[in-house]
Amino acid sequence: MSVSQAFIRGIPKAELHLHIEGSLEPELMFSLGKQNKVDIPFKSVEEVRAAYAFSNLQDFLDIYYQGANVLQTEQDFQALALAYFERLHADGGVHAEIFFDPETHTDRGLPFSVAIEGLLAGMSEAQMKYGVTSKLIMCFLRHLDEESSFRTLKAAEPYLDRITGVGLDSSEKGHPPSKFARVFKAAKERGLKIVAHAGEEGPPEYVQEALDILQVDRIDHGNRALEDAALVQRLVNDGMTLTVCPLSNLKLCVVHDLKDHPMKRMLQLGLKATCNSDDPAYFGGYVGDNYIRTAAAVGLDRNDIVTLAKNSFTGSFLDKASIGRHLAAVDSFVAAI
Ligand code: HPA
Ligand code: ZN
Repeated sequence: MSVSQAFIRGIPKAELHLHIEGSLEPELMFSLGKQNKVDIPFKSVEEVRAAYAFSNLQDFLDIYYQGANVLQTEQDFQALALAYFERLHADGGVHAEIFFDPETHTDRGLPFSVAIEGLLAGMSEAQMKYGVTSKLIMCFLRHLDEESSFRTLKAAEPYLDRITGVGLDSSEKGHPPSKFARVFKAAKERGLKIVAHAGEEGPPEYVQEALDILQVDRIDHGNRALEDAALVQRLVNDGMTLTVCPLSNLKLCVVHDLKDHPMKRMLQLGLKATCNSDDPAYFGGYVGDNYIRTAAAVGLDRNDIVTLAKNSFTGSFLDKASIGRHLAAVDSFVAAI
């Protein structure tokens, strides 16, 4: 039996893989560009959307870093975050652990404080307005060198009580997790949680390195782990959360048809998969659309949806009591249907 859209949107859920810069909708890009006098190489919102045809990760990243140039002030980052949380709330999202890329902003001359102060303000505002809680994860850009991530970790020092974890994103191929072994060790010593993009385009060995060398608490994506049966078994045995992003995988040609997406297979194998939007303004859907379109394409049933929602809480960095409350809310939602 197919699951209703109302069930999918209504079930309480958390989002664990969301790049806040990737939630910049073309309309906001244009209005901020105008306000901040930053040129955008497009004439209209329609032209921007038409440019979002990517054949791989790098194609997307080139446009995504360009889009981020319109973000100039704390207020811009606050507005960006609030717009995202409004969408999350509309999709039944009650908690999010959002990524931001400090180097994307500091490398174009913004002080470290601008992005983080604005995002923290947006996160507080969202909690007041929508009751949505959130945590912040700072990602290092893996196409840059490890010295740059060390500088970023140092710049983050005054904010470490408001940063939950560190992650690793950007161009995966040719930039293995081992390139960042020292900075992740330093981050771990500071009590930060560890996540890393691995196995999106990169080979299963990068997932292995993320586990062995970075000692991650979650794997972001992880699709290509499926090519290695022993690795899958290890991920299952460890109860390792994978933050899977189906519409992202489709747009970046990790899969060529959503019907070929491995989400159902991951759940059948006992992998702790979650469903997320990655960069929703670029990939054609927020978290609710990711659940709905994937459910229709690969035949997720009601139990699968409940599993994904529960995994999003048990895989989160919330404290035990909060996780317990969210799981009880999922059970009450299901019982009331
Ligand atoms: N992969 C790697 N880096 C990213 C992504 C992604 O999907 N989105 C934003 N930065
Ligand atoms: Zn991502």
